[in-house]
Amino acid sequence: MGYALKETEFRYRAYTEKGEWQKGSLTTNKNISIHEGSNVFHYGQALFEGLKAYKTKTGKTQLFRPDLNFIRINEGLRRLVAPELPEDLFFEAIIEVVKANQDDIPEYGKGQSLYIRPFVIGQGMNLGVKPSDEYLFSVFCAPVGTYFAGGLQALEFVTTDYDRASANGTGQVKVAGNYAASLYPRSLAKKEGYAGVIYLDPLTHSKIDEVGAANFFGITHDNVLVTPRSSSILPSITKKSILYIAEHMLGMKVEERPCFIDNVDEFKEAGACGTAAIITPIKSITHKGKVTQFGEGNVGPTVKKLYDTLVGIYYGDIEAPEGWIQEIK
Ligand code: PLP
Ligand code: COI
Repeated sequence: MGYALKETEFRYRAYTEKGEWQKGSLTTNKNISIHEGSNVFHYGQALFEGLKAYKTKTGKTQLFRPDLNFIRINEGLRRLVAPELPEDLFFEAIIEVVKANQDDIPEYGKGQSLYIRPFVIGQGMNLGVKPSDEYLFSVFCAPVGTYFAGGLQALEFVTTDYDRASANGTGQVKVAGNYAASLYPRSLAKKEGYAGVIYLDPLTHSKIDEVGAANFFGITHDNVLVTPRSSSILPSITKKSILYIAEHMLGMKVEERPCFIDNVDEFKEAGACGTAAIITPIKSITHKGKVTQFGEGNVGPTVKKLYDTLVGIYYGDIEAPEGWIQEIK
């Protein structure tokens, strides 16, 4: 089951009819039966999202910035020439799934959450390379702990010569093919004992792009939070949030700009951030055999402060900036 701690009972499914999204419903059927000629099997017309529901100390259930997942899934659907999801359908599916599986939302204080996975696939007989005529939108969920081993523990990463996405490709959206492309470099890194891969910009391989399934950020020696700007990385909601936290809650300077791998020692601390990764401190980056260490090989103080603030907001212990939290009643 990988990242999931267990499977849950209910999922939501909705379909298009003549290219228009129809209202869906909950089901307990984990299997999807679709035509062998479906685009998803051959040409990869598949897209997903990831967000989490958290239990607060007072027993409330809350989502973190789901409006941004909604915007991003539709950006991806436009890129895949698939019909955009109506806002009420997207939110109905998520809320129904969380409510139906509420007994599986981990209790406050365990460092766990309910990971919610919306996805859209192109289905129906479709042998030629063209967008599907019909689509499925589904949402399922699973309780999860930490994505990378060990909670708030600094981990070792390595750069790769492979790319997960091209400069003007699909890196900015969560299409399934980006992840298929990442499996081989990830397996090479794992075999060598690394927690994961750092992708470089596909055009020049001179700048840090992102960290497997998370964005990269570094803290310079004069305490500026820097994160790469690139056309081939996923615009992470967590990254957007920690930029805000750093600037407006921790009083730091922030910059989005190229991060040259040959200049990576400009950072005294570094981290990977994402819904699944939360904030994972980077202990070291190995590039062409050269190892650069961060946070003195441990969790640095700024990464720790960012982590504590972000996680405090997730679980309702720290007041969130306006509009970041949606309670599920
Ligand atoms: N980059 C990639 C490739 C991802 O798959 C993810 C996960 O969603 C992220 C970054 C982090 O994005 P977010 O913070 O929106 O989860
Ligand atoms: C997420 O953080 O939501 C991701 O997409 C990572 C994932 C592939 C488990």
